[in-house]
Amino acid sequence: MIKGKVVVGILPTYNLKNEDNDPYQDKASFVRMYEQRIIEAGAIPIGLLNNNIENYFDICDAYVWPGGNSIQKDFYKVFEDAIKNHKPFLGICLGMQAMATYFNILEDNKKNKELSFYETYEANKESKPYLVRLEEEKISNHSHYVTKDEEKIENAKHKVKIEKGTIMDDIYKTDTINVPSMHTYIVARVPKSLTISSRTEDGTIESVEYTKNGACMLGVQYHPELIKDYKIFNWLVERSLDKYKILVNKEYKIPNNLYFKIVTYDSKCPSIDKRESLMEESVYYAFLELKKAMKEKGYEIDLQSGYRYTIDQEELFNRIVEEKGIEHTNMFVAKPRHSEHETGLAIDVCACIDGKWNFESDEDLNILFSYLHSIISDYGFILRYPKGKEDITGYGYEPWHLRYVGSKEFAKEIMDNNLTLEEASNSYTLRYSKK
Ligand code: DAL
Ligand code: ZN
Repeated sequence: MIKGKVVVGILPTYNLKNEDNDPYQDKASFVRMYEQRIIEAGAIPIGLLNNNIENYFDICDAYVWPGGNSIQKDFYKVFEDAIKNHKPFLGICLGMQAMATYFNILEDNKKNKELSFYETYEANKESKPYLVRLEEEKISNHSHYVTKDEEKIENAKHKVKIEKGTIMDDIYKTDTINVPSMHTYIVARVPKSLTISSRTEDGTIESVEYTKNGACMLGVQYHPELIKDYKIFNWLVERSLDKYKILVNKEYKIPNNLYFKIVTYDSKCPSIDKRESLMEESVYYAFLELKKAMKEKGYEIDLQSGYRYTIDQEELFNRIVEEKGIEHTNMFVAKPRHSEHETGLAIDVCACIDGKWNFESDEDLNILFSYLHSIISDYGFILRYPKGKEDITGYGYEPWHLRYVGSKEFAKEIMDNNLTLEEASNSYTLRYSKK
């Protein structure tokens, strides 16, 4: 993430040389189309224009492997990173063919473990080709040549039938789409680990998916970037934000393997404990924006409590038990390892009214909180403990406790329908630890 925005790494369209017979007549603008679609989806595109592409992995939240002329075997490293770290991947044309080839090689390799990954490829490519040239008779429905010419794009469109329950189904929410395919090769065989999620009427594979062990990878044969297919790029960016969809409550403690970057925040709120003047990096940028929007309306808010170390949550719990008794504490303070504050994604907001900083729910704050709650979803936050949902959340109404969920779409779904995260978990996949 950079300043709270998803970073999408784009592998270079290979063969950047100018050759007369190269179908990528205008490479700069062809690449720019991927870049453009990613920007439109609200993310930052970066080019992985180096042989050591793994140097970029830490800053990439998702990948696009676009169309091109040949598969560079070093590029297969993105699959390893995408699988291991659950980063969404979108392969387009050559990118989809590379995806099928990679998983085929892995599967072939299982039959002869003596061979390395690349030796497996060499040993099989003649007898059991991974890709085959598109037969001439099928060309009527496909085009060999990638072009930006609108008329040719229109002519290269054909119907693609989508299987139910697949990523494609989730993206398009329809069983047939009309999309342009421009390719010289088709996927010859698909490994068992991949799902074929769509085909053309002539049977050509138009998309494959890999979703095992939390992976989120889609390869499409057609060219979504050419038809301003915002749905597929939105999917890529939305899935990159899934890491923020974590459920922490009395039942589920914080997952063990959280790798959020926690940054220091400078709050004007006088009662803030400096040890809690921290939050996850994307929350930081989202909160700055939210604060600005509040200020424009004449409201001053700031941070009262952010990220908490587990020992501080424990200290808080014990202190409130002493001050207010166990019943009150259970209604308003989470036990250590069970607080969202220990993830860096929760913030308690305080407000300044007539020069006085306050954060408890007193009368003066009601109007401010009600405006705050009406806009937080625009910044990826939800009200985590709403009024009237105490039985579901297990906590009393906390108008100050905002929880970052990353996706604005998801936050809106929750806020517009007055849901809790617990209720949303019935229709969305959330990450949570074992009980
Ligand atoms: N106040 C909330 C429940 C917490 O302690 O995390
Ligand atoms: Zn809180």
